[in-house]
Amino acid sequence: MSEKKLVFSGVQPTGNLHLGNYLGALKNFVSLQKDSKCIYCVVDLHAITVLQNPNSLKENTLETTACFLASGINPDKSIIFNQSAVSGHTELAWIFNCISKIGWLNRMTQFKDKAGSDKEKANVGLYVYPNLMAADILLYRSTHVPVGSDQTQHLELSRDIAQKFNNDFKCGNFFPLPEPLIQKNISRVMSLRDGTKKMSKSEESDYSRINLKDSAEEIVKKIKKAKTDSAPIPGSEKELDGRPEALNLLNIYRDVTGNTFSNVLNEMSGKEFSYVKTKISEALIDQICPIGKKIKELMEDKAFLKNVLKKGAEKAQLQAEENLKKVRDIIGLI
Ligand code: TRP
Repeated sequence: MSEKKLVFSGVQPTGNLHLGNYLGALKNFVSLQKDSKCIYCVVDLHAITVLQNPNSLKENTLETTACFLASGINPDKSIIFNQSAVSGHTELAWIFNCISKIGWLNRMTQFKDKAGSDKEKANVGLYVYPNLMAADILLYRSTHVPVGSDQTQHLELSRDIAQKFNNDFKCGNFFPLPEPLIQKNISRVMSLRDGTKKMSKSEESDYSRINLKDSAEEIVKKIKKAKTDSAPIPGSEKELDGRPEALNLLNIYRDVTGNTFSNVLNEMSGKEFSYVKTKISEALIDQICPIGKKIKELMEDKAFLKNVLKKGAEKAQLQAEENLKKVRDIIGLI
């Protein structure tokens, strides 16, 4: 069993997922289902490391679930559930709090960024966040984790925890050392207003991003307004150096159409941005609008979404409990 590939990933329940979330994560989650067993978790317990409005948290958990389904994650094939519905996540996280080291957590750059200058005031949950993430992954003894580059340090910590647990309790390879699955040939989706910044939900201007729920008109408007420069599209990638906005638009076009970059350059070389933008808008409307429509439809039926999560949690619970029983025995809990 433990040699088999098992994919796990978590997504925070922030509502309003955008093109960056889709191309960077969801699209890959969908294709991984083809030949792997996959578990996709809405990590509501990670979300509460930042104070949440309770009603928004509920709404966002359901909306993230809707995004999973609308993107093509199949709940009959993969397990979709919310983290807090399977209590093994917190139980294993506690056990990992007793394995993981303060020195390891002190190195986490995301904590440093999020805690800001006054670390004394940060909540403890934010600090041990990576231990909970390790618990998410290892509760199922998962072997592969699709993550963005911002999460690779946390994944390394998960490996360190797995290794230390195996060593401390001399239990062989009880926990696999989970490997990152980093998407090749895909680039970060950057802001439409600033090609050096990641497309983000938190950027103030909505013109900086394409939301999955945007209408065709909104997409056309946003792409039309997207920042560019005054030169035409060159014939080689090298000539895009120092032109982050042009590069970002061509990358988006490539990723949405599933083309290669050289084909995109062949098609676009010498063209004006107005032409490029029309083509990008068409491709986005074709790919993103059906997903957005589906998300909106699904959000009309919350009972259905809750039921998907409930059934997923039941399946996850069975696997979690089987592994937790072994963990309890290994560490001496009766
Ligand atoms: N920390 C991840 C993020 O913010 C979310 C996450 C929680 C996760 N648990 C996980 C990702 C387990 C992969 C595996 O993106």
